[in-house]
Amino acid sequence: MNKKKLAVIGYGGMGGFHCRHALESDVVELAGVYDIDPARNEKARTDGIRPYGSLEEVLNDGAVEIVTVATPNDTHMDIVVRALMAGKAVICEKPVALSSRQLDEMIRVSNETGSLFTVHQNRRWDTDKMRVQALYEKGELGRIIDIESRVHGSRGIPGDWRKKPEHGGGMILDWGVHLIDQAFCIVGWQRLASVYCRNDYVTTNEVEDGCHIVMEFENGVFYTVEVGTCNYVSLPRFYMRGENGSAVIVNWNEPMKVVVKRQFSEKDATPVRAESGLTKTMAPRDEDTTYSYEVPMPPSDVHDFYRNFCRAIDGEEEQIVTHGQMRRVMRTMEAAFESARLGQVIKTSI
Ligand SMILES: NC(=O)c1ccc[n+]([C@@H]2O[C@H](COP(=O)([O-])OP(=O)(O)OC[C@H]3O[C@@H](n4cnc5c(N)ncnc54)[C@H](O)[C@@H]3O)[C@@H](O)[C@H]2O)c1
Repeated sequence: MNKKKLAVIGYGGMGGFHCRHALESDVVELAGVYDIDPARNEKARTDGIRPYGSLEEVLNDGAVEIVTVATPNDTHMDIVVRALMAGKAVICEKPVALSSRQLDEMIRVSNETGSLFTVHQNRRWDTDKMRVQALYEKGELGRIIDIESRVHGSRGIPGDWRKKPEHGGGMILDWGVHLIDQAFCIVGWQRLASVYCRNDYVTTNEVEDGCHIVMEFENGVFYTVEVGTCNYVSLPRFYMRGENGSAVIVNWNEPMKVVVKRQFSEKDATPVRAESGLTKTMAPRDEDTTYSYEVPMPPSDVHDFYRNFCRAIDGEEEQIVTHGQMRRVMRTMEAAFESARLGQVIKTSI
């Protein structure tokens, strides 16, 4: 396959990520970047990357086939629509838009122009999510009761545009979007029956600096998504509980521990001392009634996202992150905002 020429809009943190990957890519070749801030364009030049003088210059460059948009969230729609109308295939950073209304317009233009359009859901390639999904699909834990997916930091929300509502700041659009997309992937895009969300406003009142979302899927799985930025001790990254066993991934890059029931055990437990009392209910089980093992990190290459997109442009594959999926993730975030505003569970059929 001939490498496709790529231009990146926005040369900040994530623009740099896309450029670094493009420079080593087997499927794309970096044509250049455009950033609205001249200092960032100058930085690109010193990094050996061609800075374009304007967005128009990028869009008028007939050699550019793919445009990746890595600018603050409130600017996505305008840049995506202009790039699609210029005939470019577009990858937009997450969150793809600020509302379903915006997203529907972007999808409409993509359909009308025939230019491919997707969102960079790179965290589908996270190996913690991949391992939980593989275990879910294997069915070894029996009926899954609940799944908890958390990211916890303690530095508060970054002080840049992420702290500003007018730029699409806040942790639901920032991290929630990843964890919600992962949730749908793990449960096989089951229908979502309800959403409950409670937000944190610990370090700022402008946008939520944390969120706690409970998604109830129609197949009965309760899935908690939690983003915390004031957690000085972190809870596990993933916890999954089924009727026949449990699994945990304590931290990024750690093995997944799986414990599976061999037999329920009819034997009466010997009470154990627990703090100021005795308990039979919480006594540890006999070891021979379970087996356990660890799942190390499998290989994963996030650049497969670009490989798929390039093959999708050539009509050889369907794009991995579809418009329908993008819509469902967006609608879930909207339901979460609505739930937090009303302090109620929102019934959905997403
Ligand atoms: N997928 C991921 O893992 C991931 C991680 C971080 C950020 N992101 C997303 O990437 C996007 C950018 O985030 P970031 O952390 O790189 O932000 P950033 O502030 O580091 O960089 C944004 C850059 O865009 C430039 N910019 C702003 N408006 C512009 C415009 N109209 N045209 C051209 N350039 C413009 C800014 O000057 C800045 O250099 C956001 O949507 C964010 O949610 C995704």
